[in-house]
Amino acid sequence: MLKPEIKTELPGPLAKEWLSKDKRFISPSYTRSYPAVVERGEGVWIYDVDGNRFLDMTAGVAVLATGHSHPEIINTAIEQMKKLVHMSGTDFYYPAEIMLAEKLAEIVPGAANRKVFFGNSGAEANEAALKLSRFHTKRPYVIAFIGAFHGRTYGAMSLSGSKSIHHKGFAPLIQGVIHVPYPDPYRPPFGISGDEVSDAVIDYIENVVFKKLVDPEEVAAIFFEPIQGEGGYIVPPSDFFGKLRELTSRYDILMVDDEVQAGMGRTGRMFAIEHFDVVPDIVTIAKGIASGFPLGAMVAKSSLMDWSAGAHASTFGGNPVSCMVALKTIELLENGLIENAEKMGTYLISRLKELMKDYEFIGDVRGKGLMIGVDIVKDRESKEYNPELRNRIVDEAFKRGLLMLAAGPSAIRWSPALTVRKEELDVALEIFEEALKSVEKGGKRWQRREC
Ligand SMILES: Cc1ncc(COP(=O)(O)O)c(C=O)c1O
Repeated sequence: MLKPEIKTELPGPLAKEWLSKDKRFISPSYTRSYPAVVERGEGVWIYDVDGNRFLDMTAGVAVLATGHSHPEIINTAIEQMKKLVHMSGTDFYYPAEIMLAEKLAEIVPGAANRKVFFGNSGAEANEAALKLSRFHTKRPYVIAFIGAFHGRTYGAMSLSGSKSIHHKGFAPLIQGVIHVPYPDPYRPPFGISGDEVSDAVIDYIENVVFKKLVDPEEVAAIFFEPIQGEGGYIVPPSDFFGKLRELTSRYDILMVDDEVQAGMGRTGRMFAIEHFDVVPDIVTIAKGIASGFPLGAMVAKSSLMDWSAGAHASTFGGNPVSCMVALKTIELLENGLIENAEKMGTYLISRLKELMKDYEFIGDVRGKGLMIGVDIVKDRESKEYNPELRNRIVDEAFKRGLLMLAAGPSAIRWSPALTVRKEELDVALEIFEEALKSVEKGGKRWQRREC
């Protein structure tokens, strides 16, 4: 069984050279946690520029559903590149884009009568959903959740509510976004208990937002992540979205389901909202859809797509190579990877929960499929966030050859490729536990920029 191999100090000599160039030429707004300078990847393995081998439990921020450099993905891309790399779907027609739209229309919850807008990223997919929601309903307001992350363009950024640094210095944001608490059963809002959280949030929307702030008939849409990603990998109670559907249907408010991080098989279903048995009006997709090629999609009920030519478009959106790779990705997901995500996720959650017996600072292990958060706390009683300790664990894992990322105020996310095997998870868990042990003794941190 392959294991990580760290042959140099970290960062190694070549990595150091790249880091100093990066410092000179790359925007300092990026949020690197530790100095991993990546040269190539294969499956769940990453090799850095100094030849060190790492086990990647991030999948490039939950993107590489099929793992690094999957041979069928590479072949699909090469074959399409030989035929057509770009033509711009906004002004021309080509089969790849139409075929993918047909497939997405078939697989999103509710199926039938869906139309697709293609962009290049999650932010663009949400931006398109925001524009379409306002355009179609002719209503000015939208609701989004505290803790949400929908992207960094002005509309998507205005919908987000996970970190104030995302907004700092960029005001005024777009008008008309109202944020409400997310139904987090582990740290419930309003000082209530976890099992009351669905009703409490619905009640807040109905009796505070709709009665005191805006009339529900002026609300175009509610944007939500079925499992919050950047906010800390938070899974709402199973009855929440059904209750939200009931409320939104009463006032013809659109439900916009941001599946950018949770979608495309990651949670053991093609779309995470399937766990909640609810049909949203609009679904936004990016990250996992095209195995690392840039692509975003906004899939809406056809009846909502009443905007006319010129209302919204993107030069690169729906690139033929990305679209063909997305079709191949979906084929691989449907033929075993979603099932694997569910199976491996169940195994990983149970192993991580076992660790809670020995490590008092693990407050919570939560997730679905291979979207799993481990919450690091000061103590279980207070559930106080412990970002300092969380960051040290991530750093200690890196030093031992395990790539992980933080999520939210104090969670560590597990979001490996959906191809991951049990033996690979076992290696990752072994190193993770070494990292946990080492912070008990007081490990050293890299200087990081907060994201
Ligand atoms: C749920 C969610 N929506 C939107 C985005 C933004 O996607 P992108 O970075 O591709 O614009 C992200 C990115 O992390 C995300 O997790």
